[in-house]
Amino acid sequence: MRIAMLGAGYVGLVSGACFAEFGVDVCIVDTDPAKIEALKQGRIPIYEPGLDRLVEENARDGRLTFTTELKEAMRGADAVFLAVGTPTRRGDGHADLTYVFAAAEQVAKAAEGPLVLVTKSTVPVGTGRKIEEIVRNARPDGQIEVASNPEFLREGSAIGDFMRPDRVVIGVESERAAAVLKRLYRPLYLIETPVVQTSLETAELIKYAANAFLAVKITFINQMADLCEKAGANVHDVARGMGLDGRIGRKFLHAGPGYGGSCFPKDTLALARTAQELGAPVTIVEQTITANDTRKEQMAQRVIDALGGSVAGKTIGILGLTFKPETDDMRDAPSLVIVPALIAAGAKLRAYDPQPGHARQVLPADLHFASSAMDAVQGADAVMLITEWNEFRALSPEKLRAAMKGKVVCDLRNVWDPAQMREAGFSYSSIGRP
Ligand code: UDX
Repeated sequence: MRIAMLGAGYVGLVSGACFAEFGVDVCIVDTDPAKIEALKQGRIPIYEPGLDRLVEENARDGRLTFTTELKEAMRGADAVFLAVGTPTRRGDGHADLTYVFAAAEQVAKAAEGPLVLVTKSTVPVGTGRKIEEIVRNARPDGQIEVASNPEFLREGSAIGDFMRPDRVVIGVESERAAAVLKRLYRPLYLIETPVVQTSLETAELIKYAANAFLAVKITFINQMADLCEKAGANVHDVARGMGLDGRIGRKFLHAGPGYGGSCFPKDTLALARTAQELGAPVTIVEQTITANDTRKEQMAQRVIDALGGSVAGKTIGILGLTFKPETDDMRDAPSLVIVPALIAAGAKLRAYDPQPGHARQVLPADLHFASSAMDAVQGADAVMLITEWNEFRALSPEKLRAAMKGKVVCDLRNVWDPAQMREAGFSYSSIGRP
């Protein structure tokens, strides 16, 4: 089988490399010549564990190629995947579909034979129908079938998620399109991965419903954490006690500073807008969006309060900046709200992140980047942990105590044990734990 993947962004690169690993011939096409040139030379523009090896091996074996020429990428392809960006449109929160529609039209015009045009980008319900119309108008004679195949990849574990998914969702309108997609995913039959075959609209909605539900779940436990703090209860145990009920499940019940990333904030907003327009508002998602935004704004206040109401002139060591560990992604990271708020309040920050590449570009230029976790906490009046990178777990209370000047530790991910921290003499606060 042969496919073309449009878009060498996160989804396109991971999916393309993984399909190649499945034995499919994959050509990834992108309009950015610099990006394609870098990929040809084996340089990967994003940080994702295992991706560099997968790209290198499949490129070496000739199954994975890169080009800027759409026609070249599409030659002999059974399917063309759209993995172009769908950012939030300025002003109204809708997903911006400009790139998706433009790419669909170009594909229709360039098609030389029958093919399946598959949307992998996250697109609002109804987009597949619009793509069908665009394709029909551009090529009334074409034999192009439109399908939807949303991805559920988590950054940091995207390759494992692609190779061992909980399910594969395919929205198709014909058996031919279903057959092409099922052949592409055939290696997953060995591990008995369920395939959910639906209409275009249903597949599109599954993606949004899944992400919105997870965002609601996180926001629920975050609000429970606030309640625990007032009531003297422990959110960790509440989550465990709830999550062991099989109907609830234990995952995504970790209280923290609010969710971020490239998907949850964008997709909840887009779902809320679509639902309002269709006259079926999903108010629980609207409330989740507001609660999550407010939560991020409240986080800086925690360390300000812990330092007695003012951080002016105080040195604060910041551990972790990315929206979660094992990624360099800063999109909608809580640190984007917390760091400027603390700088504005007069604090001197020393921040450390193991993957600071993007953080350096998007955080205030005067932020001091420390060279290691120890360097960030050295001599600090207070430490705030924002992202739970594994290496921070190795910072024992004793090590912290020896390095810091002050005693205040504000842990937004519940990494340390409260009893041990108290024993070591810290004024320690975490999320939803006494
Ligand atoms: C998410 C979805 O999981 C994935 O299926 C979809 O395709 C893309 O969006 P991702 O954004 O990579 O993946 O990260 P994820 O691990 O889901 O975490 C998202 C955010 O929620 C992070 O900010 C994380 O810190 C936060 N989170 C997650 C919590 O605060 N608590 C939890 O229990 C889980």
